[in-house]
Amino acid sequence: MIVLGIETSCDETAAALVEADGDSPSGRILSNVVLSQLDDHAPYGGVVPEIAARAHLHHLDRLVRQALAEAGLGLDRVDGVAATAGPGLIGGVMVGVMTAKAICAVRGLPFAAVNHLEGHALTARLTHGVPFPFLLLLVSGGHCQLLAVEGVGRYRRLGTTIDDAVGEAFDKSAKLLGLGYPGGPLMEKAARSAADPDRFDLPVPMKGRPGFDFSFSGLKTAVRRHAEALGSPTDRDVADLAASFHRAVGDSLVDRCDRAIKAFRADHPQGRTLVVAGGVAANQMLRGRLQALCAKRGFDFVAPPHALCTDNGAMIAWAGLERLRLGLRDGLDFAPRPRWPLDPQAKAAPFAGAKA
Ligand code: KG4
Ligand code: ZN
Repeated sequence: MIVLGIETSCDETAAALVEADGDSPSGRILSNVVLSQLDDHAPYGGVVPEIAARAHLHHLDRLVRQALAEAGLGLDRVDGVAATAGPGLIGGVMVGVMTAKAICAVRGLPFAAVNHLEGHALTARLTHGVPFPFLLLLVSGGHCQLLAVEGVGRYRRLGTTIDDAVGEAFDKSAKLLGLGYPGGPLMEKAARSAADPDRFDLPVPMKGRPGFDFSFSGLKTAVRRHAEALGSPTDRDVADLAASFHRAVGDSLVDRCDRAIKAFRADHPQGRTLVVAGGVAANQMLRGRLQALCAKRGFDFVAPPHALCTDNGAMIAWAGLERLRLGLRDGLDFAPRPRWPLDPQAKAAPFAGAKA
């Protein structure tokens, strides 16, 4: 089975083709074309929804053609089309969904409306064939969640952030330190050149608290206070503060994941894998911390390759393929959803103005 996947929910315009044999838990990427709009948004220090939607509209047709050309396939070889149908910036999501629906209508192909988070969640199956159930730490620009992934479309949320997402904390802290956007990779680069990673005493959010929730806004405020106290920080100050930030984030993620592993094991005795996914999963320092935790707890640790952690079309094509081969097709009347929790039973995050 071959599926075309389209991703347009934030600031990457992406199209990809993936293939799987029968009900194999893993797949092959035939092409994966990603156009980052970074330069369009960088002057504003964040993603501008209207600029993003226009750029998706401008580039998407060409990227779909490019994905087909790189795979050496025509649409006649494609068995279905998947698009991110939420959550995300609604203007962009509509561009991707309408494009996918149009192809499906013209070619008589089945359509899969994919939850962007399900795309991140199932990537570790595409790349590593991870069996269900597994524990998932989803860390991106808009999300920070721990989920028990029991099957395609079957997610149980253990915890979420009560304020900022972890990627958001990276981006905002980077901005405070004058590092630019997006903050994650720039913070990581700065932290690598730190002379004294323990120099700044930053709070470790939620450490030791019951439950599995996260919180990152206090940490960001602590970074601001240190940055202000430094006045005009030198490169060394920035590097040390970025490294201290990594340590605090790592300590918090390890504390939360350790608790979640214990709870997950009790409910799913056959589960033995922690998967980390989403843009922040590209961070090598954090991966190292989580890997060490898993080694200590006798758990397998799986992180998709860097390029498949940040937004891409292959993850959407794969989630669509997993859905379509189970017969889960969506109607062409499916309406895009700006908010779309993976676990509909989970209580809404206990804060106002939450991202989807
Ligand atoms: O999954 P993603 O590409 O888009 C969302 O769905 O949010 O994640 C983007 C987020 C941004 O906040 C970015 O700063 C962060 O992932 N990120 C990183 C790294 N690379 C990207 N954070 C920490 N370290 C990185 N190396
Ligand atoms: Zn994402």
